[in-house]
Amino acid sequence: MRMPSSLETGSGQAWLTLVKQALHAYHDDPGLLALTRLAAWRLVLTAQQRPPGASLPDAVRAVLTDGLQRLQASDALGAAVLRRHYVEREPMAQLALDLHFSERSLFKHQQAGLAALSQLLWQAEEHAQRVARLSARQQQALDELPTPTFSRLFGADEILSALRRFLTDAQAHWLVALDGMGGIGKTALARAACEALIYDGRFERVIWITVQQRLFAWGRAHNLDAPALSYAQLLDELARRLDLAATTGQSADRREAPVRAALGEHPTLVVVDNLETAPDVQSLVMGLHRLSHPARILLTSRYAVGAFDPVTSLTTRPLTLHDAVNFIRYEGQDRNIEALHHASEEDLLRVARITDGNPLAIKWVVGQLQSLPLGQVLADLVQVSEGDHDLYRYLFAYAWQHLSRPARHLLLHMPLLDARGTAWQHLAAVSGVPADDEFCRAIQELVNASLLNVGHAVQDTVYSIHRLTEYFVLSELVGVMTPAARS
Ligand SMILES: Nc1ncnc2c1ncn2[C@@H]1O[C@H](COP(=O)(O)OP(=O)(O)OP(=O)(O)O)[C@@H](O)[C@H]1O
Ligand SMILES: [Mg+2]
Repeated sequence: MRMPSSLETGSGQAWLTLVKQALHAYHDDPGLLALTRLAAWRLVLTAQQRPPGASLPDAVRAVLTDGLQRLQASDALGAAVLRRHYVEREPMAQLALDLHFSERSLFKHQQAGLAALSQLLWQAEEHAQRVARLSARQQQALDELPTPTFSRLFGADEILSALRRFLTDAQAHWLVALDGMGGIGKTALARAACEALIYDGRFERVIWITVQQRLFAWGRAHNLDAPALSYAQLLDELARRLDLAATTGQSADRREAPVRAALGEHPTLVVVDNLETAPDVQSLVMGLHRLSHPARILLTSRYAVGAFDPVTSLTTRPLTLHDAVNFIRYEGQDRNIEALHHASEEDLLRVARITDGNPLAIKWVVGQLQSLPLGQVLADLVQVSEGDHDLYRYLFAYAWQHLSRPARHLLLHMPLLDARGTAWQHLAAVSGVPADDEFCRAIQELVNASLLNVGHAVQDTVYSIHRLTEYFVLSELVGVMTPAARS
């Protein structure tokens, strides 16, 4: 990674040394003031404004404690050693006794923690410097974006540049949709594209609306309070974000005009994340289309919305084996997962194959490796007898509940077919369903719900399912065949 230009001191080592010196002088105000290079840190300048007029030593302490807090997520032990030693002034010998380490190995953890903290602060400084160069409007637009869930995206260059092109193309794709199965990276890509476009000065205002009703974090699914979104509620929400007078009670037609006019005042991008949970997707899409131009609209959805005329859609694909392996290695380092430090290429490939390149599933596996051996985690993922696996519930339960009976029937037969893809004739034969209109509608339903992938072989269109969908289907199948076991 490149060092922030105004802080270039010859090498990353100099930056690390300065971080170390600042920690040493944590309780020594004159010592911190003597480290004059700290006064040039954008992070410190910003901390001095919160509260305005904070002293330089206080600002440096705020930056360091913030960094230590963030380090907690990736290197809990390193963060604890640094905090207890430098901030709480516990001698290393005492800490070693307390944490049951030899002084020598505790020293190693301290050094690793310092290196990671220095890296984190470096990244934060670089970001702060970039933000400082933006206009107030751009900074405000950045603040609108949700907190990033990633520090780096893998295998995303192509789709990101397509997304950026569509959102800025003079040919005008006013409504762009990113679709794809749960956890595949739609929100992450939408966020990354927005950020890049704000930095490029293409948009001065971003309005990010989340319709998501469930969130997967810390290895579990959580319910959010967000209401299912109707078009009328969307108009109210936009009016609120645009600081327009409340028009609740008036007809949607009358409410639309002021929102549309205000959206046109500055280059604006509206993001509606997780559109699939809205009760009436079609009327939302049509309404959003009326609100667009010159504003651009970006939708993310587990359901394909490309069938609606005004929408340009892009499908988010799983990571390739190569990108998945690099991502797993990166996550392992970032979160300091011991089990992955020594994992063989073969083990990493196994994780990549079993998760089939789904980033959320990869993160789930890596997270589990903090406390469980690889073999057990992978076995748990493909465990077909456990229908209530939280990851699966998050990824599939909603789609499953909303499938028609014929679509469910078809999906349940997919694991019996060639994993590389099956032509519709085979699909009809194996599932024992006549290839009539109902069958075609069921296929379309599964494709729209991102449960069935469409590929093209030499002569035919072929259908396949993602491996995670297959595990989920198998677990449902177990439930269907042994209902007593599930009650
Ligand atoms: N290309 C990628 N490289 C690295 N991490 C990624 C990538 N894509 C997604 N992620 C990470 O994987 C997780 C799931 O991604 P994200 O939330 O964007 O999925 P999604 O498609 O929006 O899912 P949902 O349908 O549930 O909304 C996030 O933590 C995200 O940061
Ligand atoms: Mg999402």
